[in-house]
Amino acid sequence: MKNRIITTDITLEDKNMEKTLRPRSLREYIGQDKVKKNLEVFIRAAKKRHETLDHVLLYGPPGLGKTTLATIVSEEMGVNIKVTSGPAIEKPGELAAILSQLSEGDVLFIDEIHRLNRQVEEVLYPAMEDYAIDIIIGKGEQSKSLRLDLPKFTLIGATTRAGMLSAPLRDRFGVVNRLEFYNVTDLMTIIIRSAGVLGISIDEEGALEIAKRSRGTPRLANRLLKRVRDFAEVEHAGRIDYNVANEALNRLDVDSFGLDDTDRNILMTIINNFGGGPVGLDVLAAAIGEDAGTIEDVYEPYLIKNGLINRTPRGRMVTEKTYSHLNIDKE
Ligand code: ADE
Repeated sequence: MKNRIITTDITLEDKNMEKTLRPRSLREYIGQDKVKKNLEVFIRAAKKRHETLDHVLLYGPPGLGKTTLATIVSEEMGVNIKVTSGPAIEKPGELAAILSQLSEGDVLFIDEIHRLNRQVEEVLYPAMEDYAIDIIIGKGEQSKSLRLDLPKFTLIGATTRAGMLSAPLRDRFGVVNRLEFYNVTDLMTIIIRSAGVLGISIDEEGALEIAKRSRGTPRLANRLLKRVRDFAEVEHAGRIDYNVANEALNRLDVDSFGLDDTDRNILMTIINNFGGGPVGLDVLAAAIGEDAGTIEDVYEPYLIKNGLINRTPRGRMVTEKTYSHLNIDKE
């Protein structure tokens, strides 16, 4: 069998640019104040008692810093972190191997934890609860179950869909945190911080314009910052101000709400094909050729938060605000 690499170690010496934009401590981490303050207490309490931090579940839309927070927790606890994801672990034995290689106190981060299959998930239950795994040796009547003790560790699970976690798994997390979209002020601070890290010259109005159009998401804010820098360097004097940001973002087809082509396609399809809704998620997904889960997890949360889509028992509907934002007359 070929060996697949299913975990990654994140080291402080990581030279990757994307990683250097990530804050390394709770103090550096901007936004998500409630989650941050709670985690700070739990980390301090665990350290004070010389205990391992309880298992943590982080959920919310993509790009809000779940991996970043997990890394920070490990840094603050002064332990190693192993990073893997639900779909990467295909067999119970693979998870058993990962767990048995952990050291006392380590953080195991499982991204997209809702995508673990049932058999793998069942290995996690005793691992989380009793720090042990049950291994079956031999086959048929001769087989024996052997309990293997594990070091105490902290599982940090991340998911875009808390509703898709099985109840037994969800109940085994001692700390459950929901990440929210970032407000414009926090995003602006993140953009100015990232510009500093990357050596980009930007003024407050430029940062504000990128922040407003980043869908409440730091990952997108950092991506847009880099693309706007390209326009600033090639077509302007290199400095990002309001005009440079506005022009670049318009040319990138990012509108004043931060909506991109797929967002607009979703809204226009509800309006043009379904008379503004209501339309069921699966029907909508088929009409635009996008995966229903992706619409639900990636696109829809921001559209709902901004009042551009309503979820009703009969399906998704656009709103008055959608028509005015898209400059369409309601018939
Ligand atoms: N870069 C990405 N997310 C961040 C955050 N929450 N705080 C500071 N820098 C970030």
